[in-house]
Amino acid sequence: MTALLACSGLTKRFGGLVALDGLDFAVAQGETIGLVGPNGSGKTTFFNVLTGLYSPTSGAASLDAVDIFGKSPQSIGRAGVARTFQRCRLMLDQTVFDNIALGVLRAKPLGLLSTLFRRGRLRADLDATIARAHQLACRFNPQLGAALFRPAGDLTMIDRRRVEICRALIANPRLLLLDEPSAGMTPDETRRLMDDLLAFREEAPHLAVVLVEHEMDVIRRVSDRCVVLNFGRKIFEGLFDAMIEDREVQTAYLGSGQ
Ligand SMILES: Nc1ncnc2c1ncn2[C@@H]1O[C@H](COP(=O)(O)OP(=O)(O)O)[C@@H](O)[C@H]1O
Ligand SMILES: [Mg+2]
Repeated sequence: MTALLACSGLTKRFGGLVALDGLDFAVAQGETIGLVGPNGSGKTTFFNVLTGLYSPTSGAASLDAVDIFGKSPQSIGRAGVARTFQRCRLMLDQTVFDNIALGVLRAKPLGLLSTLFRRGRLRADLDATIARAHQLACRFNPQLGAALFRPAGDLTMIDRRRVEICRALIANPRLLLLDEPSAGMTPDETRRLMDDLLAFREEAPHLAVVLVEHEMDVIRRVSDRCVVLNFGRKIFEGLFDAMIEDREVQTAYLGSGQ
């Protein structure tokens, strides 16, 4: 099995704090990995380093053999990595469409010259983006598709999360990183969002997903494999059932023995 994402020795220091400590991490095409660990264990830092928001201290990272280590967020986006954020990052006074379309700009910025001189092309691009945003939104919820030109602030929490996921998906990523998508949602909303995700996975079997999530039921349901971080180090990698039996994982979660 060749890895789509391959990281080795990935390290991030903030001054004296080692937030990510020599992490080896591989994801295969089409695989969903549940990434868990106590608060402050480095999960979000891993995403931030991987997507170029933070510059890594040392290590290596590649996507399908293309080096993405320390590259800009835009070139990493172009290579095929997209993400959502732990805290809602929607512009609530802008339309659903504007929020989703940002995902295209992240991967493919519009240059000023092409904006000025290639207006026909721009119009065609815009129409294609509207069609794709509508299709993605409808796939998650037909009513969300119908609300494409309404302010994102009018949406329910679950639909806001769906918009954030659509924003990540519109760039046609090969690797999707989801940072606690259930944060702020009820258990029922979380279940519905995971239904959406599983349905989408059926349609996009090559998409690889890394899901950070505290809800173990969610992890059990959607993950092929689990990775556990503690103090920036990987303390477990394997199947869900083995993970919940693992002594070191239990100790990390109970917070004793540290
Ligand atoms: N920008 C930053 N500056 C300094 N320390 C940070 C920064 N981001 C994260 N950290 C620290 O790195 C560690 C890991 O944090 P984080 O990756 O957010 O954990 P998790 O997402 O697993 O809860 C924590 O100790 C946190 O305080
Ligand atoms: Mg986090």
